[in-house]
Amino acid sequence: MTRRTGTIVGVLGARGRMGTAICAAIEEADGLVLGPALGSSDDRSQLLAGGAEVVVDVTNRAAAIENLPWLASHGIHAVVGTTGFDDEDVAGFDRAFTEAERSCFLVPNFSIGAVLMMRFAAEAAPYFAGVEIIELHHERKTDAPSGTAQLTADRLASARSEPWAPDPTTHETVAGARGGEAAPGIRVHSVRLPGLLAHQEVLFGATGQTLTIRHDSYDRAAFMPGVVRAVRAVSELQPGVTVGLDAVL
Ligand SMILES: NC(=O)c1ccc[n+]([C@@H]2O[C@H](COP(=O)([O-])OP(=O)(O)OC[C@H]3O[C@@H](n4cnc5c(N)ncnc54)[C@H](OP(=O)(O)O)[C@@H]3O)[C@@H](O)[C@H]2O)c1
Repeated sequence: MTRRTGTIVGVLGARGRMGTAICAAIEEADGLVLGPALGSSDDRSQLLAGGAEVVVDVTNRAAAIENLPWLASHGIHAVVGTTGFDDEDVAGFDRAFTEAERSCFLVPNFSIGAVLMMRFAAEAAPYFAGVEIIELHHERKTDAPSGTAQLTADRLASARSEPWAPDPTTHETVAGARGGEAAPGIRVHSVRLPGLLAHQEVLFGATGQTLTIRHDSYDRAAFMPGVVRAVRAVSELQPGVTVGLDAVL
């Protein structure tokens, strides 16, 4: 039997929906070797014993907040599909990985279509008066808004110097009816329903016209080429945090 050689990749959250697909994708990818694939009851030290050089974290915010500084302190690069972090979380990861001279690649959406949706939306941003984001996900997603919606809002904010049209609402009879403000003047609405996987619409409006940019993921297979690309590239990224798959496209 020939033994495969290549970068040893550990997975945290390996028995979850994303983790299961990621383990299979890594096993099939040239130049990558699947190392320790761990769940919530496993000891992280197995990653050291198994020689993991890169670890993919697809757990949840609370677990990742523990996992990521631990990976940094043990000299391991991280590719993070987990979502739900706030600015303070990200600043903490950046400090830990910069100090350790290792890279932490935060990728809220591994699909190429979603990356292009964000890019096209940023391109449209200067030409419209207002924008709102509707993100739609399966019924077991626990964080809101999605990491993709937040990253889209951040990209829209940096793509434009003018303020967005002010919100006309003076009275909200149902709390949250106008969604949440993900960036100044940019509202996001989160839908959770069985039957969905991961979908997003960016709606722009100007006098007499709207533009809708929509992306749909129907299968987790859509994420796997991006996962493999991120894993292959992470050690070449600058130390600290890098956000978004387009950094390596
Ligand atoms: N970036 C992207 O493109 C993308 C796409 C889809 C989803 N996501 C995100 O990826 C994350 C996982 O999603 P999912 O749908 O796969 O969720 P999931 O099916 O609930 O899987 C999460 C897994 O993490 C495990 N886990 C929890 N704490 C852990 C720990 N400390 N160490 C190791 N494993 C731990 C859980 O194990 P137990 O069941 O034993 O607790 C569970 O198997 C979410 O944050 C989601 O938003 C990202």
